[in-house]
Amino acid sequence: MNSVSEKLTKCYESVRSRTGFTPKAALILGSGLGDYADGIRVEDTLDYHDIGGFPVSTVQGHKGRFIFGYVGEVPVVCMQGRIHYYEGYEMSDVVLPVRLMKMMGAETLFLTNAAGGIQLGMRAGDFMLIKGQIASFVPSPLRGPNIDELGVRFPDMSQIYDPGLQRIVKRAAVKLGIELREGVYLQLPGPQYESPQEIAMCRTLGADAVGMSTACEAVAARHMGMRVLGISCISNLACGISPVPLSHKEVQEVADRVAPQFKALVTEVIINMAKEQEEGGC
Ligand code: HPA
Repeated sequence: MNSVSEKLTKCYESVRSRTGFTPKAALILGSGLGDYADGIRVEDTLDYHDIGGFPVSTVQGHKGRFIFGYVGEVPVVCMQGRIHYYEGYEMSDVVLPVRLMKMMGAETLFLTNAAGGIQLGMRAGDFMLIKGQIASFVPSPLRGPNIDELGVRFPDMSQIYDPGLQRIVKRAAVKLGIELREGVYLQLPGPQYESPQEIAMCRTLGADAVGMSTACEAVAARHMGMRVLGISCISNLACGISPVPLSHKEVQEVADRVAPQFKALVTEVIINMAKEQEEGGC
């Protein structure tokens, strides 16, 4: 067994020694959604620190936990606090929780994040349904020996974000009266925000929003055959588009301001996702 696979097995056994909860969907909570779990029926929580072998940094004491519970009748596992590449982790560690949530039983991965807006006409506080992504600026989480139990060596990435799930998000947004943009998310390594020249490059490449997470998680999820959907909260206009210098505080404030809408959208999507699956739709 290779070391990535060994670590994953160790983490899985550790999780299973503490909870038997079987989620249907996995949810990664981005900026602004940190307290999403306050509104769900929580069954169990598990601090990353308490999972044997889980990649938590001893230097910064990374805070984070899995929350197990129900959104409506849907069993979900939420990641409260994701692992970012810019913190210094190997990419295989960054996506370890995604793999772990699949092993727990989650078939669908719902990704959320805060991102800088590039698309013309975007405003801070907008939401963007992710239709596609560019992950080429960060190392692949699949680099190294392939873990055959998870997926194939050369997985197809022609449709990373599930079209059926995208339809559900669009319908949910209409129902809730939320204006929803659509576009391509581009992941950069960070942690520095981009220069105006880098944002010009991103735009030329076809990106509508830029961030420091998500795309690598989506790649790992598709490798395992999970259905993936993603929504960005446009917390700021990207550098060079925004007339003011970027600050993490501004990003956080906007994400917090639109959090109630974001939470309502996430809940509506999860409930409808389960309904359509029951009905054999999407
Ligand atoms: N750039 C990169 N990541 C981000 C941004 C941004 O402008 N806003 C929120 N996350």
